[in-house]
Amino acid sequence: MKSTSPFRAVRRFAVFGAAFIGATLICAALVSQSAAAEDGAEVWLRYSALSPQAAKPYQRLPSHSVLLGDAAVLHTAQQELLRGVAQMLGRTLRPSAASSPQDAIILGTLAQLHVLAPAVNPPQELRSDGYWLKAAKIHGSKCLVITAANERGVLYGVFALLSKIAREEGLSNIDEVQQPYAPIRWVNQWDNLDGRIERGYGGPSIFFADGNVRSDLTRAGEYARLLASIGINGCTINNVNAAPGVLEESFIAQVSRIADVFRPWGVQLSMSVDLSSPKVMGGLDTFDPLDPPVAEWWRKKVDEIYRRIPDFGGFVVKADSEGRLGPSTYGRTPADAANVIARALKPHGGVVFYRAFVYNHHLDWRDPKNDRAKAAYDNFHPVDGAFDDNVIIQIKNGPIDFQVREPVSPLFAGLRRTNEAVELQITQEYTGQQRHLCFLVPTWKEALDFDMRVYFDAGPTPVKALVAGRVFHRPVGGFVGVANVGMDANWLGSPLAMANLYGFGRLAWNPDLSAEKIIDEWTSLTFGRDPLVLKTIASMQLNSWHVYESYTGPLGAGTLTNILGNHYDPGPESSEENGWGQWHRADHAGIGMDRTVATGTGYIGQYPSAVEKLYESLASCPDNLLLFFHHVPYTYVLHSGKTVIQHIYDSHYDGADRARDFVSQWKTLEGHVDAERYRDILARLEYQAGQAVVWRDAICNWIYRLSGIADDQGRVGKPVSEAVPPAGLNADVHNYFTSLLTLRLAHLDQFR
Ligand code: GCU
Repeated sequence: MKSTSPFRAVRRFAVFGAAFIGATLICAALVSQSAAAEDGAEVWLRYSALSPQAAKPYQRLPSHSVLLGDAAVLHTAQQELLRGVAQMLGRTLRPSAASSPQDAIILGTLAQLHVLAPAVNPPQELRSDGYWLKAAKIHGSKCLVITAANERGVLYGVFALLSKIAREEGLSNIDEVQQPYAPIRWVNQWDNLDGRIERGYGGPSIFFADGNVRSDLTRAGEYARLLASIGINGCTINNVNAAPGVLEESFIAQVSRIADVFRPWGVQLSMSVDLSSPKVMGGLDTFDPLDPPVAEWWRKKVDEIYRRIPDFGGFVVKADSEGRLGPSTYGRTPADAANVIARALKPHGGVVFYRAFVYNHHLDWRDPKNDRAKAAYDNFHPVDGAFDDNVIIQIKNGPIDFQVREPVSPLFAGLRRTNEAVELQITQEYTGQQRHLCFLVPTWKEALDFDMRVYFDAGPTPVKALVAGRVFHRPVGGFVGVANVGMDANWLGSPLAMANLYGFGRLAWNPDLSAEKIIDEWTSLTFGRDPLVLKTIASMQLNSWHVYESYTGPLGAGTLTNILGNHYDPGPESSEENGWGQWHRADHAGIGMDRTVATGTGYIGQYPSAVEKLYESLASCPDNLLLFFHHVPYTYVLHSGKTVIQHIYDSHYDGADRARDFVSQWKTLEGHVDAERYRDILARLEYQAGQAVVWRDAICNWIYRLSGIADDQGRVGKPVSEAVPPAGLNADVHNYFTSLLTLRLAHLDQFR
């Protein structure tokens, strides 16, 4: 949604907040100048030296490395292996030839391995990108084999081996096959050509500056390495709100340089394109997808791209959405639009990701039957089966827009003859913009594990299986994450936020992994294996989503933020009386969107019948989604026994208290993690603790004024002068939050 905020006061909060964090971090950086520099750039690939004791079991590792084959990705794999082993174990592996029999770590595809050792076979068939790590005797020598069906799989095997060493896992007698759950494991970057990133909070683009591809693409290459290390095999480099200029011949020539730095890491490059390109930059007088010259234009353009980038991945398309032109201009369907591009890509093996984020943002809010949540299903379900086999419908996890909590999109079950992928948001747009701690893996797991019950009681059909094409036997599908890393040394602007990128990659590879396992891996690799560090960070990260939800948008009301502006500060009034459709329908008597079939918008009827039953009835609808599905009086009693209004008050106070606890928890790690990251993170958590109070008081006062129902603990409705900023903060910070609250409450007064 675009930033057209009329609420200047609220926007000032964001500027103020950024300045505050910035100043605090500069101080932190100055204080820590003498400490060992750990700016977060190495993320989970630090390869810190193991202690002599921890390194001991690895003395038995072979001292040579044999590379079978000559592909660029295999060379990258060997370089990475040498680098990791040298840094962690202080040993230099010597590259040697396959012909000289000796103990070695052998790297190569299965086909290459079979030339050397025809009898060595994995226990199961390896799929593309899957790998096998095996301790084996080959011609009498003790070897450690890293093999895969394709070269990229070998690289993934190397990263897996190095991760095991970093986490001090044993390797003797290793015999492990890992296979990706789905072929599509991509990230999207929303980078603009001028270098700014839409919803990016980690600095400017690593790809573009001033309308061109950057001359120095070192960071882009390093990013490809990060992506490869977690099994991500594709990256769309530019904003879904695509500039048509990306398809200019001269620009494609520039983009091919990015593909060159991705290629050694097995990351395919793709681009977002504007559907009106044949007209706005191609010189045609139409972009009607059924017009033959338009099809011809796409064919020629795609051929031109493949001449420059032979392994180009394909296109992402955002059309008929938030002001973007689309097939509706000519009365055509999304299938017509997707297919014309897909047919141009097909001979080259490329795919089209057509986004299901298609909705009317000029809905009439006065009509109680209108509902933005219905849009994706309404637009795409009728054309199920009409898409070519190299089209993938990219569906946001929820039906609205990456809110702090949403149910899953019913479209996942609504496409049975069409490929699909889930779109998850790694960049924390509505979830605290990397200034608040919000580990999203638990959210994503809830969505991916949600059982759509498409066959009613005949076995589970979770979202993860649907998007991977496993339920309806689709040829392709999987996972897309909106990442938005930038030039900040630590990539996302906050060291702890990188757990979301790591977690996305790990879940895309294996959505059955638990959030606990993922955070344990990430923390070990990012901060080392001190038990206090592991325990504390795991607890903070695993609780952080619920904490953020508690003070921003409990009970499924959506993130009660300023949706017309920064998507960050509290601003619940901005949801109403406009066409964007993020309505929570709070009035003097009650709150929530009635989406029932019986009396509401009928959205719930888009789910398979077993899920419809769950949500339609107040008795079975879970409390945490109540206000997403039902409009209830403030006095409605939840399953927990509390009234809705008291839950809202309590949840905000509890959330703000728990955000403050993060500060104390983090402080226990002083001296256990490096000084630089310790101070950086502490500054962020202190800021979050204060901002959580702003959220608490803004939302509690807003709802108190609307409902007129007092908090039974007497906390709500006090003048600002009595507002209590979080304990332990210095006077400047105290004043800062008091000013924020004053502005916020003055703003509320305008809406009384
Ligand atoms: C959100 C986001 C926009 C983005 C859009 C999309 O609305 O705020 O910046 O363009 O999603 O996913 O297309």
